[in-house]
Amino acid sequence: MRPLETERLLLRLPKRHDLDAYAAILGDPLVVRSLGFGPRTREETAEAIERMLRHWERYDIGLFSVVRKSDERLLGRVGFLLWDTERWLNALHHDLEGLLETEIGWTLGSEFWNRGYATEAALAARDWALSERGLTRLASLIASGNTPSIRVAEKIGETLEREDLPGPFDRRVDLYSLQAKAPLAVPI
Ligand SMILES: CC(C)(COP(=O)(O)OP(=O)(O)OC[C@H]1O[C@@H](n2cnc3c(N)ncnc32)[C@H](O)[C@@H]1OP(=O)(O)O)[C@@H](O)C(=O)NCCC(=O)NCCS
Repeated sequence: MRPLETERLLLRLPKRHDLDAYAAILGDPLVVRSLGFGPRTREETAEAIERMLRHWERYDIGLFSVVRKSDERLLGRVGFLLWDTERWLNALHHDLEGLLETEIGWTLGSEFWNRGYATEAALAARDWALSERGLTRLASLIASGNTPSIRVAEKIGETLEREDLPGPFDRRVDLYSLQAKAPLAVPI
């Protein structure tokens, strides 16, 4: 698959040699604070990359590695993750079938925050999913109080749909969503 390109970024399939960058990002307590798991070891990060690759192989959609064009630094991951909405389990960790919800999600290394990168990547990923994959709905599961993530969701056109999902979460998680038929051009 050809990478998606934005002004500053490339979104491409994850690779095993992304490990050093992902180990730094997912090993950072600040980054994983809102993700519902603790800092990943290098070995756990290698497994996380394998799960991202399997998700792409199994469902033909998944999380992209986000690379800054100016210096080829890997900033993090943005893209898609499928969910079973009865049990709120995701396809990175479970082999799911049937009607699944497509989540659009974002995680960047903390040194790259607050420069509009997540929004820029998420807008490109959103447009790709709606045009190339023909999806009409996207959703995001966001821990209550994760204001930066809520702002990214809002800036790509999502609104709060449901509070406090009944899943196996260790905190309150809310659902934001967008419908393709709704106007997507929101002010950024
Ligand atoms: C969420 C995340 C991907 C955002 O990345 P980013 O590149 O900084 O996002 P952007 O720069 O595109 O936008 C961030 C928005 O949050 C706002 N923001 C950042 N820190 C904030 C804070 N402490 N309080 C309130 N708003 C904050 C910014 O002002 C900006 O909104 P604005 O454009 O209205 O000013 C990044 O913070 C991250 O990786 N967090 C850890 C992982 C995570 O929580 N992922 C989401 C799981 S649902």
